[in-house]
Amino acid sequence: MTISEASAIPHGSRVLVTGANSLVGSNVADRLLSRGYRVRGTVRNAQRHQWLGDLFRGKYGKDSFELVQVQDIQRPGAFDEAMKGVSGVAHVVTIFAGPNDGPDEVFESIKQLDHNVLASAAAEPSVKRFVYTSSCQAANTMGLDDLDGKTVITSETWNKTAIQRAKTGSPAEWRRGFDIYSASKALGEQGIWEWVREHKPRFVVNTVLPSLCYGASLDPENQGFPSTLSWPAAIIRNDWASVSEHVKANLPNGGYCVGIEDAALLHVAALTNPTVQNERLFAYGWPFFWNDLATIYRTIFPNRELPTDLPARDKDADLLDVKPSRRSEDLLKEMGKPGWSSLKEIIVANAYGLV
Ligand SMILES: NC(=O)c1ccc[n+]([C@@H]2O[C@H](COP(=O)([O-])OP(=O)(O)OC[C@H]3O[C@@H](n4cnc5c(N)ncnc54)[C@H](OP(=O)(O)O)[C@@H]3O)[C@@H](O)[C@H]2O)c1
Repeated sequence: MTISEASAIPHGSRVLVTGANSLVGSNVADRLLSRGYRVRGTVRNAQRHQWLGDLFRGKYGKDSFELVQVQDIQRPGAFDEAMKGVSGVAHVVTIFAGPNDGPDEVFESIKQLDHNVLASAAAEPSVKRFVYTSSCQAANTMGLDDLDGKTVITSETWNKTAIQRAKTGSPAEWRRGFDIYSASKALGEQGIWEWVREHKPRFVVNTVLPSLCYGASLDPENQGFPSTLSWPAAIIRNDWASVSEHVKANLPNGGYCVGIEDAALLHVAALTNPTVQNERLFAYGWPFFWNDLATIYRTIFPNRELPTDLPARDKDADLLDVKPSRRSEDLLKEMGKPGWSSLKEIIVANAYGLV
């Protein structure tokens, strides 16, 4: 057996994925299933997400996927039942703040959620691996508006600016919601590592830090184009107005993006690769201005009407020097990929089901 075939959890064993209906959760489940693992996915409303079970059981067999409902994810013990007998946990779900939620309230809710999941995992002897979905926003912003000058990112980098701004900034700030989200990811991930230091669990913990995930919808009809997939989808649909307010409040000029498949595969590496232990796996991917995405679509689909007035390159966008990026790319290569999927590949994949 080669190193890449060795697995830190038994081949064919079951992995728990929290928030399995989400863009990231569904793709983590899909990549685990494609490599022969079984998945138990939690959602808040099982009835609404039957399509997920139909999709995965259709693709991977009737015993491959179980959908379980965990309605109140903050209730202590909420994940105890779902945790039974799993060898690994991909803790993907977070609590996205509503427009009236204060930052402290959001941070406290996420802390409670994360401790629930960790406590259930610690009480289940079969758990050998735990991966936490963080975000590159936990380390340093990927927003081109906020970047000025080359910035080096190491495994020790944290987004102190977002934490500071979330705590002290004004609710009227245009990027208030994004600051609170970014700080929630930084504090959430720091909370995971603090818990590990304090509790010294018998399972290995890793984290994954993706930037904006783009790529193909798993099921254009039933899943549609959720979360960040909706942004390139709005370009190919020539319907930028449907997302422009949200984009303006987060990343007006553009940011960094990564293929959803690569982000999901890094979760699989964190769960199964014996060499990945106590690591933060970074996935910043490619810098882009919004017009770069339209330009790619214009080349591939020359007859489509596309937005012509998106923010375009006016400076060097590649301002981040992400030192741990090579480690993530090497893990993707061990899993049989030539490296990161290119910007063009992921943007074109994002149009699948729309053209
Ligand atoms: N998408 C990206 O580009 C990206 C990049 C980096 C990291 N991430 C991380 O990946 C994870 C999933 O994000 P996503 O973009 O894939 O999400 P998504 O597709 O928008 O789905 C959101 C998920 O979060 C749940 N959720 C939202 N608000 C909630 C609340 N108040 N209480 C409980 N559950 C709530 C939703 O449950 P319901 O369906 O029941 O509402 C759903 O499962 C998050 O941890 C996010 O920070 C995402």
